[in-house]
Amino acid sequence: MTLSITPSGQACGATVRGVDLTLALDDETVAAIRSAWLDHRVLSFPDQAMTDDDLERYTLRFGPFGVDPFFTSIDGHPNIAAVARAADETAPIFADSWHADWSFQEFPPDGTCLFAKIVPPLGGDTHFLNQAAALAAMPADLRAEIKDAIAVHSAQLPYAPDGVYGEADKENDRAMKIVTDDSAYRTQLHPLIRPHGETGEDTLYSTIGYIIGIDGMEREPAMDLLRRVYAWQTQAQFVYTHKWEPDMLVMWDNRCVLHKATGGYDGHERLLHRTTIGYNEAVRA
Ligand code: SIN
Repeated sequence: MTLSITPSGQACGATVRGVDLTLALDDETVAAIRSAWLDHRVLSFPDQAMTDDDLERYTLRFGPFGVDPFFTSIDGHPNIAAVARAADETAPIFADSWHADWSFQEFPPDGTCLFAKIVPPLGGDTHFLNQAAALAAMPADLRAEIKDAIAVHSAQLPYAPDGVYGEADKENDRAMKIVTDDSAYRTQLHPLIRPHGETGEDTLYSTIGYIIGIDGMEREPAMDLLRRVYAWQTQAQFVYTHKWEPDMLVMWDNRCVLHKATGGYDGHERLLHRTTIGYNEAVRA
């Protein structure tokens, strides 16, 4: 088996052909995909008519399932969530701010797999942000300011009862099954700059949607610093815009990439099935 890998030409991302993900993969193929994943950070696999069982089997080749705290899973598959939006839905787009999945956990997930089942004819792109590239190109004075900064992560802004998807969202006609609760107020510290768990490469871990401050810093200077990091890292040169096709699998590396959903498809349905590749001790550098 020889994989054909075509880089996106943008800040990260590559398209992979020459493999059938509806079949069980041998170790050599998994190693080749893992290597391409570490190189390109986001991989897309077009024309894969995968079932939910296929998606689970594929995910488990890259690590254990992660723990998904605020989603309800689909029937019969406790580790698959539906990222869904109905054609006539008017709720704000789910996950449309930059984040790495579940960064508020003690051991955040290494990656995420998202499989496209229904793709709107326009819009609905997913944007990815290469945090390692943003750090490598960061001005020395800004990098020096965040060198020892420890960010305070929390799920409270989106998932607390008074958060974006909490009580106030209940009146929205949201197709996605989101569950909010008080556990969202918990906090977890992670350095703003940290080595990638598998390659050892230094990368930003500034996952805006889940950061509420910097440990030991007053709120105002902390938010000012975070806003400046945000302004730097969200420049177009660090972003890859992913366009979906039905039957396409995408896997991304939460350790070095942020992502966000986009809208622009009012009047059309969108449905993707998502699994989380949990923290994998076995691959740690
Ligand atoms: C997600 O953050 O899991 C969803 C991304 C998307 O809907 O494009």
